[in-house]
Amino acid sequence: MYIGLDLGTSGLRALLVEETGAVIGQAEAAYPVAHPHPGWSEQDPADWVTALGTVVAALKAAHPAEMAAVRGLATSGHMHGAVMVDAGGAVLRPAILWNDTRSHVEAAELDALPEFRAISGNIVFPGFTAPKLVWVARHEPDVFARLSCVMLPKDYLNFWLTGRLTSDMSDAAGTSWLDVGARAWSADLLQATGLDTGQVPTLLEGTGVVGPLLVDRAETLGLPAGCAVVAGGADNAVAACGIGALGEGQGFVSLGTSGVLLAGKDGFAPKADSAVHTFCHAIPGAWYQMGVVLAATDSLNWLGRITGESPAALAAALGDDLQAPGPVRFLPYLSGERTPHNDSVLRGAFLNLDIGTDRTAMAKAVMEGVSFSLKDCLDALGQTGTRLDRVIGIGGGTQSLYWCKLLATTLGLAVDRPAAGEFGAALGAARLAICGVTGAAPTQVMTPPAIAETIEPEPSLVPAFAEAHGRYRRSYPSVKEFQ
Ligand code: XUL
Repeated sequence: MYIGLDLGTSGLRALLVEETGAVIGQAEAAYPVAHPHPGWSEQDPADWVTALGTVVAALKAAHPAEMAAVRGLATSGHMHGAVMVDAGGAVLRPAILWNDTRSHVEAAELDALPEFRAISGNIVFPGFTAPKLVWVARHEPDVFARLSCVMLPKDYLNFWLTGRLTSDMSDAAGTSWLDVGARAWSADLLQATGLDTGQVPTLLEGTGVVGPLLVDRAETLGLPAGCAVVAGGADNAVAACGIGALGEGQGFVSLGTSGVLLAGKDGFAPKADSAVHTFCHAIPGAWYQMGVVLAATDSLNWLGRITGESPAALAAALGDDLQAPGPVRFLPYLSGERTPHNDSVLRGAFLNLDIGTDRTAMAKAVMEGVSFSLKDCLDALGQTGTRLDRVIGIGGGTQSLYWCKLLATTLGLAVDRPAAGEFGAALGAARLAICGVTGAAPTQVMTPPAIAETIEPEPSLVPAFAEAHGRYRRSYPSVKEFQ
């Protein structure tokens, strides 16, 4: 038995699986995100530990015999966050998350140093880890002075479980400190941030074993002594493990809090200036590229909050038949923008509102705007030479058939919808645990899910969506003028 953990932005999900990958049970626990100032996004790592206790207890209550047979666990984590600990391992301040844009000035400064793009293969985005540390050095010098190690969110759980400071290549790739091609920390990039190689964790591949559970943690959680903790990885890479997107031409579109268009790569071929991310995969010897939309379902959640309607109901009101793009445009930059503009101070907009515009028309515009933003990501991937013939649709937003049809038609790609079941980051994490403990080859374990249906682009609507996407693109400079 194995446990896959998905440390998400809004909660922790645990999946109990057999060595065959068959799912036995699942449990979830939520925790908050604090936004104490505009652009700030923080979490208390202690909340993650509490959530871990909750999900393990729930799985034990439901599956006591299977939980007594757990041989290993691994965690998928939200990326780029900074967890800072002192020499005794105590957390120095709340974790600064991936969608925190306070360090945009520091990010621009680091990005202007040629070595960052040259070595890390990526733009230094404000959400990445390195600029956060420069911000802390400037604004919280006492914290920075006591910093012994900075790690990624899921690495903190692994540290709590094992006492060992490690990270994996896929998460380390999102810090701006990794030589992503060489899969090694760059002493130069760390030094440019005021850090040295002793202040970052030891690197493993995602299938590498961090160590056994500490005896007292095993007792606290009620897990078998000797249970192995496997490194795990960054949520997008681990989700790719969950759907078997490991190599060239395989990819997914994800409609989660953030939106992601991801393509597997057999080699390291970065093109930083396109604002595409080129990162190490969670399995050895592989990389991937992706474009990121910061507020995907988060945009519909926002509309739901201010209209008093649930996001699911807003989407359902559109029915299942794809309609031509409406007159209202929405630019989903509620938390800034990553691919292709890299603009963290940019904010969202509704355009062309009419006295008769109702909330269904606004929901339609929101779903279209997020889809257009993902089309921007596809175009950016195309500029790097990366091609996708089809994608698997994952994430909560793909439960809407309307949104899947909209995506297929906007992207011009077939969108495969997996059959009901598990195929996300928690399963990917369990698969990393299986590979780490048994030594099985990732290609044998990380197979694609059964596909329930394939949504093809709607040919009669492709020109209208292409035209609407063009207008969407052209509205960016005007909206930027408001900053
Ligand atoms: C990727 C990114 C997000 C987070 C969400 O670069 O910032 O997808 O990983 O958890």
